[in-house]
Amino acid sequence: MSNSSSITHFPLLAFADTRELQLLHFWLFLAIYLAALLSNGIIIIAIACDRHLYTPMYTFLLNLSLFDLGSISTTVPKSMTNSLWRSRAISYAGRAAQLFFFVFFIAGEYCLLTIMAYDRYVAICRPLHYGTLLGSRACVHMAAAAWGSALLYSLLHTVNTFSLSLCQGNVLDQFFCEVPQILKLSCSESYLRKAGLLLFGFSLGFGCFLFIVLSYVQIFRAVLRIPSEQGRHKPFSTCLPHLAVVSVFISTAMFAYLKPPSISSPFLDLVMAVLYSVVPPALNPLIYSMRNKELKDAVRKLVTPFLSTAIDCLFSSPNGSQIRS
Ligand SMILES: *[C@@H]1O[C@H](CO)[C@@H](O)[C@H](O)[C@H]1NC(C)=O
Repeated sequence: MSNSSSITHFPLLAFADTRELQLLHFWLFLAIYLAALLSNGIIIIAIACDRHLYTPMYTFLLNLSLFDLGSISTTVPKSMTNSLWRSRAISYAGRAAQLFFFVFFIAGEYCLLTIMAYDRYVAICRPLHYGTLLGSRACVHMAAAAWGSALLYSLLHTVNTFSLSLCQGNVLDQFFCEVPQILKLSCSESYLRKAGLLLFGFSLGFGCFLFIVLSYVQIFRAVLRIPSEQGRHKPFSTCLPHLAVVSVFISTAMFAYLKPPSISSPFLDLVMAVLYSVVPPALNPLIYSMRNKELKDAVRKLVTPFLSTAIDCLFSSPNGSQIRS
């Protein structure tokens, strides 16, 4: 296993050895995946179908839901099927594709969270300039910048990671193809390259992080200056959930990428990976739409016809007479 060209497949982490635990893992991931599909799907359709929601905040939320769907779809289904078929294999192409798309969607999500923090900052601290700073063209440019920079970053990262030569075997201790795990397998000669890769990612990430923190500090200072309890309630109720999502995402990802190798245990790595790659996509729609009346109304408008049809079907007797009356 010392020659990297001889490595053609990379076994992923097997969650469990016993059949019961494998099936438990399958059903658990299936439930999370379906919840993420359903909640993000509803948010996407509700925003796309409601003309009242064509504002920057909601179109950015739509973008975020797309990234969420993408990032959870690159990791979870593969891990589920592997568990079901008792396999650990992932092909070379599959590994490259998984790494590329995962980094792309996660980077895009992070860019978008930064843009959304800016959107809230302008809305709360500079309300008079909202129309000029976040006009429709500026928003399209910002969204395009998020997609474009995520694409560029992911390409760079994937090419760079795949050009490292690997010396430490081929077993990835993770349920998807994650960058730190590949770095762990690389030869010690490629130390400089590895450091460059991490430093580049870290400085970009830190820039966004600083921007997000400063935006929220400004927001909270502005909100705390509002004299009435009533007036404080609304901005707080939209910003605290944002902040919750951002902090879980950033702290777990930072921990996964920056922790010293000495405190690495397979179980801890696994928990961290699930926390930053699986939980946010499933929870984001809930957190963002919680306490948001406009979005809830749009979702209700969308779901009610389906529900009432379903109830009609369930409660009407076979000969067509309805029980409802
Ligand atoms: C993403 O957001 C931009 C800016 O608000 C919006 O114009 C665009 O339609 C959104 N993208 C998608 C795919 O909905």
